[in-house]
Amino acid sequence: MKRYQLFIDNEWVDPHSGAWFETDDPFTGEPWAEIPRADPTDADRAVRAAEKALEGPWSTLSASERGMLMYKLGALIERDAEHLATIESRDNGKLFRDVLGQMKYMAKYYYYFGGLADKIQGAVVPIDKPGIFNFIRYEPMGVVLSITPWNSSLPLTTWKMAPALCAGNTIVCKPSEFTSASLFELAKLFVEAGFPRGVFNVVTGFGPEIGASLVSHPGVARIAFTGGDEAGRKIYAAAAQHLKRVSLELGGKSPNIVFDDADLDQAVNGVISGIFSATGQTCVAGSRVLLQESIHDAFVERVAKLTRAAKVGNPLDPASEIGPITTKPQFEKILGYIDIATREGARCVAGGRALSGPGYGAGRFVEPTVFVDVTNDMRIAQEEVFGPVLSIIRFKDEEDAIRIGNDIKFGLAAGVWTNSLHRAMLMSQRLKAGTVWINNYRSSSFTTPFGGFKQSGIGREGGIESVKEFMEAKSVWMSSDLKMPALFAGK
Ligand code: NAI
Ligand code: MG
Repeated sequence: MKRYQLFIDNEWVDPHSGAWFETDDPFTGEPWAEIPRADPTDADRAVRAAEKALEGPWSTLSASERGMLMYKLGALIERDAEHLATIESRDNGKLFRDVLGQMKYMAKYYYYFGGLADKIQGAVVPIDKPGIFNFIRYEPMGVVLSITPWNSSLPLTTWKMAPALCAGNTIVCKPSEFTSASLFELAKLFVEAGFPRGVFNVVTGFGPEIGASLVSHPGVARIAFTGGDEAGRKIYAAAAQHLKRVSLELGGKSPNIVFDDADLDQAVNGVISGIFSATGQTCVAGSRVLLQESIHDAFVERVAKLTRAAKVGNPLDPASEIGPITTKPQFEKILGYIDIATREGARCVAGGRALSGPGYGAGRFVEPTVFVDVTNDMRIAQEEVFGPVLSIIRFKDEEDAIRIGNDIKFGLAAGVWTNSLHRAMLMSQRLKAGTVWINNYRSSSFTTPFGGFKQSGIGREGGIESVKEFMEAKSVWMSSDLKMPALFAGK
């Protein structure tokens, strides 16, 4: 079995505790690698290395040179995309072809933000005082802590790290205990690209242990988190002790709304890939589908038919369309929600069971599942399942769709299917969500901000503006001929 070491200050080191834990392959259920179980001593070493790098060669690089390093990293990721995808897919169980696509696309984040590094400009401010010249500098915040979940370890780390490096910060990564291996593989590419020591560090272990000690470390200036809302709340509270800068991306229960005037072939595809991509284990999953009454029954029939025919199986098999559930606790959580939905009176029209036996490996599979007769007050409509379970709700008209769509604590994303320009504009304005897709779903890019309204989180990742989320503005006042008035007469 492969045994990884921590990556601190460009060196591979054993964890101070001398302890490792196993990570498994969600398909086979077999452990395949040993991950270091870091303790507070390792946390301290990593944060100090990252602090030292801020004073050392990293800060003396010009922004253009910093950008070139990021460019090199992107090229190495492209070169090694197959290898990175193999590791990531083995650890998280996502379809290999999807993960490979993600790896190749990830390189573009480093190109985009590498290119931006020398284009972040300050400003000269026409100040309302005579004899003063005022300008604004943007400076890195310092050590950025990235904490990520198990569904997309490398991409979600990249969403944080590319703008953070662009801004001149240094990084400590704490990936999920279920999917840490790929971050170590990425670390090798940082060394090969020629990043100075301490700029990028990987510390692994469990959330409440090493995660919590990193969050409360006084040397961490900024925390960028993606994960569940429970952990998000704890991290936000702990960060308040030192008033650390925090961004949180906490998932959702996104409405995917189909009007009767939509192109229904497109909408069916959008509804299915909206919920079932990555086996439903995505924060933007369109897990609440709102169907206008007049098309409800026929649309449900089409979705249910396609769902029942989905090919569930080995993520390495190119024929598979849906893979296993990444973690054992998540598998149980999803089955629990299927039970809750049934007891609440929702009607299951596709799936609904766990799958085991030949072709299903260790049996960590849940059939893609569709519930109808869901009302928006049910738990299956209000809570994030994070699995292949769709809830379908009826609505009457635009106002009804807006009311139901927004009647939820989350606000990450929303989809709208209509051929009416008026409806499209109305919905894009009235839906309370950080991303609204009109006649498409799941599109994403490094060029535009991503993040949540309401309890889906705080802050945005992506786009030019996201670099400033990792910088402090400094206002500098220079006297040109201001005479300091005497406060004390000196008599
Ligand atoms: P989690 O939110 O517990 O873990 C995410 C990351 O935070 C992991 O790296 C974990 O080690 C770390 N963490 C946990 N507690 C921490 C603490 N007190 N201090 C510092 N770091 C901490 O997610 P988990 O357990 O993997 O999944 C729980 C639920 O979260 C899922 O059932 C799902 O509903 C949701 N989830 C949402 C995701 C999203 O993209 N929004 C992604 C994954 C899970
Ligand atoms: Mg694993």
